[in-house]
Amino acid sequence: MSERAHWKSRFGFVLAAAGSAVGLGNIWKFPYITGENGGGLFVLIYLVCIALVGLPIMMAEIMIGRAAQRQPVGAFAALQGQATSWSVIGWMGVFTGFVILSYYAVVAGWAMDYTLKSIVNYARPIHDQAEQEATDFRATASLDEMRDLLVNHDLSRLTQAEVNRVKTRAKPSVWKDYRRFSEAISKADNRESARARLLADPRLKSAVEQVEALQREIDEIEENSRSRLAADYQSLTEAELLKRAETLKRRQITFEKVKTAFVTTAGDGWTTLLWSLAFMLTTIVIVAGGISSGIERTCRILMPTLFVLICCMVGYGMFQPGFVQAVAFVFSPDPSKLKASGVLEALGHAFFTLSLGMGAMITYGSYQNTKRGLLGESIMIAALDTVIALLACLMIFPIIFSYGQEPSAGPGLVFMSMPLAFAEIGKGGMLLAIMFFGLLFFAALTSAISLLEVVASYFIDQQDWKRSTAAWITGGAIFLFGIPSAFAMDSGYALSGWEPSYGINFFDTMDYLASNWMLPLGGMLTAIYAGWVLPAHLRDGEVTDLPRWAIQGWVFCLRIVTPALVAVVLLQKVGILQIDELLVW
Ligand code: TRP
Repeated sequence: MSERAHWKSRFGFVLAAAGSAVGLGNIWKFPYITGENGGGLFVLIYLVCIALVGLPIMMAEIMIGRAAQRQPVGAFAALQGQATSWSVIGWMGVFTGFVILSYYAVVAGWAMDYTLKSIVNYARPIHDQAEQEATDFRATASLDEMRDLLVNHDLSRLTQAEVNRVKTRAKPSVWKDYRRFSEAISKADNRESARARLLADPRLKSAVEQVEALQREIDEIEENSRSRLAADYQSLTEAELLKRAETLKRRQITFEKVKTAFVTTAGDGWTTLLWSLAFMLTTIVIVAGGISSGIERTCRILMPTLFVLICCMVGYGMFQPGFVQAVAFVFSPDPSKLKASGVLEALGHAFFTLSLGMGAMITYGSYQNTKRGLLGESIMIAALDTVIALLACLMIFPIIFSYGQEPSAGPGLVFMSMPLAFAEIGKGGMLLAIMFFGLLFFAALTSAISLLEVVASYFIDQQDWKRSTAAWITGGAIFLFGIPSAFAMDSGYALSGWEPSYGINFFDTMDYLASNWMLPLGGMLTAIYAGWVLPAHLRDGEVTDLPRWAIQGWVFCLRIVTPALVAVVLLQKVGILQIDELLVW
């Protein structure tokens, strides 16, 4: 066996590991789950999760890799000095890496597609056409039509927070009972008698009464806001009204068009597949290039570039009218939008975003040849990841708010709401779009490298394959496994049959399995192994430069805090624990 490859420098390792951590999770997912969970408070909880769960496991993974000098499948046996069932963590990791990369490449492919689309300025005709149609609307619609348009648009936004607060006063199970009730009613031939029959059940009766009372309150809130809004728009000058109605109309048309553009891209399996092929080829070439001359070198170039690009975009955002609103949104807490399940979402995301729970950091740690700096490096990696996630919010939300879009637009935020804003910005928007999708591509690439490295390194370390053979064969296999994900949104293909039978499409199923189950499970087992099983002298040998109390705090987290918190997440997933039922605030 040839001598083990190592990173050229410690900083190179930190950049590569941060490259793994900073990915689609930071730029695509974090802003939208922050949006869905109401901003500030969610961010705070996320930071606590990173500190209490993310950091200890990050240290544990790097330590395991560094001490064993093996990739995850071989690492546990090497540390225990004999074959051990803990190696299952390694096997799970290889499998999870395989699964994640298969759909990750699909999203990354869209990022490449959109970078190219931005270079040819695909938004230009959309912008022009929307402008034309909005001008026509202004010329032909009556003032009342314009007011209606504006009122309806503002209504949901104005009342949403209040309505949510009212809704959360009934527990989820009550809502579930109510939905069961209203479905049964809508199917019945004779509604009156069906209603009477169903209400004989005291549990249903109480649920229906609760919900109907809330519904009356909600209607009242909406009525009030509607008349208030209508009055506001009545008092507007005609010129102002025309201007606002035209702008809103233009944005609505633009949004419809960028949405159609995205749905057409994502819904076209062959295009999606071609781009994910391009992405996989890039990833494979880098991994085949080796640790220091492939992975480290790429990350040394791409990570600083990514950082500069994000800073430029944030700099642009600072001069936008929506900046103050964006900062308030990201940093000021709004407890009404946060449910207890949001806390668990923060915890789950901590695993995904730091690349934990599947041996990626074990693998990268195994290419280190030092015994020092474990804590400092882990803090640096976690901090870089967190800073970039927050910067991503400050890059996206000022633009979203300045162009009147919803922060909680879900996964469409990046591929629909942002293109709308870029189209609205006009000429400069083209440059911003290129930067934005380019940096999304870079972020995805440095993460994909680590995913492929986990899989490929199994064949390199354990089966003695040549690096390039391993990279090409495993990369090719992952690409093939990703085909159903690429076609998941394409209605013309057989696998769309997956969706009716499982409720979600193939792509989402893979994401669900990996991020909700495999990563937390893998992370919990890693923590238990490092805290309880790994011989203490091996552990202490890796942290000779740390004070006793720091080591003790870390081991305490690994033994108790981390497994307990992850257990709560998993129990909630299985449905044994229904956290939103227990905690209604
Ligand atoms: N951390 C990456 C992101 O935020 C995704 C990722 C890369 C990953 N490698 C991983 C997730 C390993 C889990 C495990 O997008």
